[in-house]
Amino acid sequence: MKGVILAGGTGSRLSPITKIMNKHLLPVGPNPMIFWSIFKLKEAGIKDILILTNREHLSSFIQLLGLGEDLEVNLNYKVQEGAKGIADAVSYAKPFVKDEKFLVILGDNIFEDSLSPYIQSFKNQERGARVLLKEVGDTTRFGAALLNEKNNVISSIVEKPKSVISPYCVTGIYMYDDSVFELIDWIQVSERGELEISDVNNLYASEEQLQFDILKGWWIDAGTWQSYYQANSFIYDWLNTEKGRELQY
Ligand code: DAU
Repeated sequence: MKGVILAGGTGSRLSPITKIMNKHLLPVGPNPMIFWSIFKLKEAGIKDILILTNREHLSSFIQLLGLGEDLEVNLNYKVQEGAKGIADAVSYAKPFVKDEKFLVILGDNIFEDSLSPYIQSFKNQERGARVLLKEVGDTTRFGAALLNEKNNVISSIVEKPKSVISPYCVTGIYMYDDSVFELIDWIQVSERGELEISDVNNLYASEEQLQFDILKGWWIDAGTWQSYYQANSFIYDWLNTEKGRELQY
């Protein structure tokens, strides 16, 4: 399976530093943020990776990562024109993944669990999509997932709900079959001017084709200065655990 890392967007919640640099290049522990997504893919055996980013920062990524030789992965790059939403970014992956199933990671998401068992479940899934959820206290910053536990599927996702409607938020790890590209063509631009990934996922959900797993370990979306601080703290602690020391990259 191939992997796609989204590293575009404006990073406005980490402004002002993001006026001059891409947030996925900021350090989290000893590494630039994007390294953690690459490590997670590599740990799960995914070495063919597409990085999507914005035009002004592409050269920094290439300077840092090249074709992936140092990290022992094969990196490809593509520019997303404008920050038009996560679903818009995913649409650029079509020529790279062709008609195969693939996995998308939001480059500002950092997490502890290995992706391997979740990828295996998705491989066993005949069709549709699969997302990884996390139980959090406050889902209003995220996509909140309402579950149909009887059928083990998500019945719907509400993007940034005004109140807490579910304990589960959708993390930035999405697995899709090739029908995702057709579904992206179906959705409309949202009020905030983006093609929302939750709208795409809701189309899968309406067909009972959106399955899920719940992450066991820690997870963080490092996109605000508070959560960026927390991401550094998680990584610092993790590097001092037995597993962290073992996997020291
Ligand atoms: O972190 C999980 C959350 O990520 C989910 O719970 C939400 O459902 C999902 O919409 C998303 O919400 P955010 O508000 O955190 O998305 P954000 O705009 O911060 O973008 C997330 C990542 O995607 C970030 O690494 C940048 C990248 N991105 C974003 C946009 C809008 C792109 O590459 N291109 C884009 O156009």
